[in-house]
Amino acid sequence: MPLVIAVTNQKGGVGKTTTSVNLAYYLAKMGKPTLLIDFDPQGNATSGLGIDKTELKGTMVDVLREERSLADCIIDTDHKNLSLAPTTQQLANTEVEIAQAERRFTRLRTAIEQLYSYEYVIIDCPPSLSLLTVNALIASRYVLLPVQAEFYALEGLGQLLEAMKLVRKNMNPTLDLIGVLPTMMDTRTSLSNQVYEEIKKHFPGKVFEHTIPRNIRLAEAPSHGVPIGVYDRFSKGARAYKGLAKEVVDRVG
Ligand SMILES: Nc1ncnc2c1ncn2[C@@H]1O[C@H](COP(=O)(O)OP(=O)(O)OP(=O)(O)O)[C@@H](O)[C@H]1O
Ligand SMILES: [Mg+2]
Repeated sequence: MPLVIAVTNQKGGVGKTTTSVNLAYYLAKMGKPTLLIDFDPQGNATSGLGIDKTELKGTMVDVLREERSLADCIIDTDHKNLSLAPTTQQLANTEVEIAQAERRFTRLRTAIEQLYSYEYVIIDCPPSLSLLTVNALIASRYVLLPVQAEFYALEGLGQLLEAMKLVRKNMNPTLDLIGVLPTMMDTRTSLSNQVYEEIKKHFPGKVFEHTIPRNIRLAEAPSHGVPIGVYDRFSKGARAYKGLAKEVVDRVG
């Protein structure tokens, strides 16, 4: 069984997709066969890796509908050891479609259990505490929580921690927080530093050593359809995500 990590925060625009894509890329670069699952109807991880959504044979839509195996939807990327399970915006309708269906909470877990050729699976979650996110929490060993270093950063996180507690109690007793990742840090501003201290107080021992700086190169890379390590591997953003990947491997170790 691969080690499954859900990158989640129900707040939008905090860096979930940027983290998923670049963490997956650097894990792959470390020689670990890695699958990135795009589990957000926005499909940003899919387009961020330069995949043409009109030419897909299967997607997470088919997996969630149980019409195709996950292995059947996975595509190779241009990057060694990195595969992608893509999605389209249709995933939003599918979520509604299966809202009352049997085994609706465990479909992703069942799909992942049938895989064997990956060391890591990274799930890019949507910005909601929806059925999709619950599926991801039930399928995962760990949650990685990106938190944007801004004023309202910690608001709403209680709900997510509550959801994790419920999932742990009912479906997935080993679910754990692998770490909290401050993103879009601007260490020159006192607000960023203040929020960082606040995050550390809130999650003692859980905040990653490597935080992610605000870095324009990270925002530019997806429009070229490549991870930061390909777009500008000497950028601050690239170094930060490379460090994060090592830290993740250490923490799992
Ligand atoms: N460290 C960073 N520095 C600068 N820009 C960033 C950084 N991280 C992310 N961005 C940009 O901020 C925006 C939001 O990032 P991202 O898409 O990763 O967030 P998200 O949490 O996945 O959003 P959503 O909730 O909509 O899925 C994007 O335009 C992205 O390119
Ligand atoms: Mg996203």
